Order: sequence, then C-alpha cells, then structure tokens
Amino acid sequence: MTKMASKHPTSFLAFGDLPDGGIEALIVRAEELRALRAARTPHATRPGRVLGMVFEKASTRTRASFEIAMYELGGHALYLGMQGSQLERGEPLRDTARVLSGYCHGIMLRTFGHDRAEEMARYATVPVINGLTDLMHPCQVLADLQTVAQRFGAADVPRALRGVKYAWIGDGNNMANSWIEAAGILGLDLALACPAGYEPDAGVVERARASERGRITFCREPAEAVAGRQVLSTDVFTSMGQEAETEARRLAFKDYAIDAALLRGAAREAIVLHCLPAHRGEEIADEVIEGPASAVWQQAENRLHAQKALLELLLA
Ligand code: CP
Ligand code: NVA
Repeated sequence: MTKMASKHPTSFLAFGDLPDGGIEALIVRAEELRALRAARTPHATRPGRVLGMVFEKASTRTRASFEIAMYELGGHALYLGMQGSQLERGEPLRDTARVLSGYCHGIMLRTFGHDRAEEMARYATVPVINGLTDLMHPCQVLADLQTVAQRFGAADVPRALRGVKYAWIGDGNNMANSWIEAAGILGLDLALACPAGYEPDAGVVERARASERGRITFCREPAEAVAGRQVLSTDVFTSMGQEAETEARRLAFKDYAIDAALLRGAAREAIVLHCLPAHRGEEIADEVIEGPASAVWQQAENRLHAQKALLELLLA
C-alpha cells in the first residue's frame, strides 16, 4: 500500500481521510438522519447532486444503500458495473475518473487493489468514496460503529464506542483492516484471532499502533479473543477475488467461526456483527446470526444512515 490518505482532501478512501472527531461526528449525524427518516420527515439536503457509482465487484448493500441515500438526499446515483460499461473492455480508471468528474459531484468506487481507488482519487476532481477495496471497507465499519453506539449508548457516541471491547474472528481482510484503522483513531480495545498466514495488513497494524491510542492485540485462539468482550465481528473466509483459494481457506478457517459455544465466552450483553453476505455454517453459525445477539440487520440498515452523513459531508 502507498499512502493512507488520498490526495484529494475531501475523498474518503480510509478513516484517516477524516479530520479528528470525524467518525464520531458522522455517527451523530447518521443518528439524526435515521430519526428524520423514521419520522418520515423529508431530508433532501443535497438536491441536484449526482453520485457516480463504479462497481468492479458485486454488491447488494453498498449499491442499494448509496443509491437510496442519494435519492433521499434529493440527488441521484448513477450505476456503472463491469458489464455494459467500457470498464470491462479495459478503459483506464484514470480516464473514467476524469470523465465522471465532468458529470458527477462525487464518485463511489468498489474495486480490487487499493491503489486503484487511490488512482481514481488522484485523477478525479470530485470526492471519491471507497465502497470496498481488497485493503479497506471503511463505509461498512462506519455503519458497524453506528450500530455499536445504538446498542451501547447513542446519547454519548464517543463514550459508547470507547466503553466496550471489540473482537475480530477470522480473516485479516479488508474489514479487519478497517476495524484496526478505526481502533487506532478512536482508541478502541480490539483483539483479533486470525489463522497463521491470514493476518491483517502489516502497514495498517503498524500505523494504528503508532497512534498510541487504543489497544490492538493478536491471539491465535478465537476463545481468547472474545473472552468478556461486547462486540464480536467476523466476515467470510473467502473474499471477492479470492475464489481460487476457497478450499484452502475453508481448511485454514475451520476453527475460526462464531458459534454458540464461542459466544458463551463473550460478555453477557455481547452483540455479533457481520458485514454480510454471510455463509451460515462457515464463519457464523445459523443459531448465532438468527439469535438474540445478532445485530446484523440493524448493521446493514445503518449503511444507509451512515453513508447519508458521509455524502452530506463530501457533497456539501
Ligand atoms: N457489506 C457489503 O458491503 O455488502 P455488499 O457486498 O452487498 O455491498
Ligand atoms: N471481505 C468481503 C466483504 C464483502 C462485503 C469481501 O471483500 O468480499
């Protein structure tokens, strides 16, 4: 990975692009927007703004939540997928960045290498939002943090976020990296259990630890990572783009699932998060995702509210 922050000061490729207190402020605003929506109060705060959405990978939540967010903010979202656009025929991303900058007020990109998102931000003249790269998925973790605030005290978001202990079980992937980055910025206590060879990005870990805020620890045993903790997160064994490794990963991750036995070792009030899509019986047991500790549907809904707050900030 090159540099954490994008060149465009108003882009959001990682949490490091936000000013101090930026995450907390977005969650506070996301909660306001959620309340407005629940009361059916119109909140078209960004009329006429257009978000270009470029997807080089599949999506359900990211596409739906950004599109609906733009609609409810009074703007419009334009979807460009691999199929049916010139992306599939190899048009350079830097050209797409400049062309879309002439039409749109912001661009959301879901892609493979994080350097592709950085390239998009370098060539675009409008803000670029990371809708998932192989390295980071900050929009999802923003919604996850909103979920934690809702469950543990939305009246004081910073206190709610810092008042609980977090665990990550499974792959040291884009989600794990974004959790680690958030932990370094917010000062969270995060324990991770990842199988050997599937650890998170070393640079992300180093930067988060260098911030000297928060506590990031690694355990080999999932039971050790979750012991007494309130927020348990996991994700698929095989992320998009890693399909050729599916069998090897199934083996490597077989003891890294959140099941009822593991959950019993967590705090009594623990919640379980999963960004979805989930594979029941692999990284998460059916009885856990369908059980009382599961916060996954609220977490998925929060993508809409959190991204509205983000869009308000970037498309101001
Ligand atoms: N969690 C998430 O980003 O879901 P999608 O892949 O469906 O967008
Ligand atoms: N780690 C997963 C997240 C999907 C939302 C992936 O990158 O495929």
